[in-house]
Amino acid sequence: MGYHGNILTDRQVLFLLCTGCCQDSSTQLLNDQPIKDVYVEVGSEVKVLCEGVAGGEPVEWTLNGSQVVSSTLLHLNSTRLEDRGIYTCHSLSRGAVIQQVHLKPGYPPSPPDIRCWAPSYPLKALCTWSQMTETYLPTQHIITYRDRDYGVTYPCHIIPKSPDILCEMKNLQILANRPYIVYITAINALGNATKPMEFDLEENVKPDPPVNVRVVVKQGRQVLEWNHPPSWPEPQHFPLMYIVRYYWGNNQGQGHTKVPVHGAESLPINLDRFTKGRTYHFQVSAHEGLGSGKGSEWSQPVSVIVH
Ligand SMILES: *[C@@H]1O[C@H](CO)[C@@H](O)[C@H](O)[C@H]1NC(C)=O
Ligand SMILES: *[C@@H]1O[C@H](CO)[C@@H](O)[C@H](O)[C@H]1NC(C)=O
Ligand SMILES: *[C@@H]1O[C@H](CO)[C@@H](O)[C@H](O)[C@H]1NC(C)=O
Repeated sequence: MGYHGNILTDRQVLFLLCTGCCQDSSTQLLNDQPIKDVYVEVGSEVKVLCEGVAGGEPVEWTLNGSQVVSSTLLHLNSTRLEDRGIYTCHSLSRGAVIQQVHLKPGYPPSPPDIRCWAPSYPLKALCTWSQMTETYLPTQHIITYRDRDYGVTYPCHIIPKSPDILCEMKNLQILANRPYIVYITAINALGNATKPMEFDLEENVKPDPPVNVRVVVKQGRQVLEWNHPPSWPEPQHFPLMYIVRYYWGNNQGQGHTKVPVHGAESLPINLDRFTKGRTYHFQVSAHEGLGSGKGSEWSQPVSVIVH
């Protein structure tokens, strides 16, 4: 099994981090004055000097049009989130805007929570993550993974336009007998935080649920049928097994009966198991055939009156 795709050294990864978010997102505004972004951690002090003021020229700082201080120095002792806004330094004698800053209070990121699993074993694995604490600032996430023995670091490619936050690990080695290390770095203007996590491919196999679960009638008998999850790439080489569970009445929470199904995508609804005239609700879950990892979520229930 070879390694393909982009290989990043740690230094290149750092470079990506820096081009991603450290640049000043200055915008043009009033009088062609660029607005400078000033990031400050909540609770800390910030000082901004109004530059380019002639000696003795009277100036004031305003926030959203209201006066904050009549001085060249804008000084906040302990910045609060509510202090966010565009601060403007005006010359009172010239009536001109001298400088503008966009104050952005927030927090440096804490290590994010990350979870990875393999719905398309063995081709790829997915990771999703969330920031445990709100930073109030644009925060980027970079995810990489490393083969512990070969020491090569790969990027976990972020999947654009997916409804969930996801990145994709490819070219994973099966039965590697050693976990990969997944690193997640959260970075914003106030700092960064990295967290490593061990990831064992086989332990984290988790198929998506089977699809198209339905009841058909074949030779006068009802049969529950389904299709393997489309995300499972090679059911012929990496077979799935299924568990069907059923209940009747409003017994959703209790009274499930489970039936394992090997090597088929169907289960006959036999009268020796089911009671004629009763409505049953069926759900199916997919599992890797050798029992690796976890089963899929249950499919949506399908209801049928047994006859
Ligand atoms: C700023 O903090 C210092 C010490 O914490 C305090 O002595 C001073 O009065 C504060 N200044 C303002 C303007 O709140
Ligand atoms: C200033 O205006 C901005 C944008 O309208 C707003 O988000 C911010 O809360 C205002 N700040 C204050 C202190 O009123
Ligand atoms: C992450 O933060 C450390 C200090 O906490 C700093 O030395 C390092 O350059 C930062 N890395 C990036 C990519 O900004």
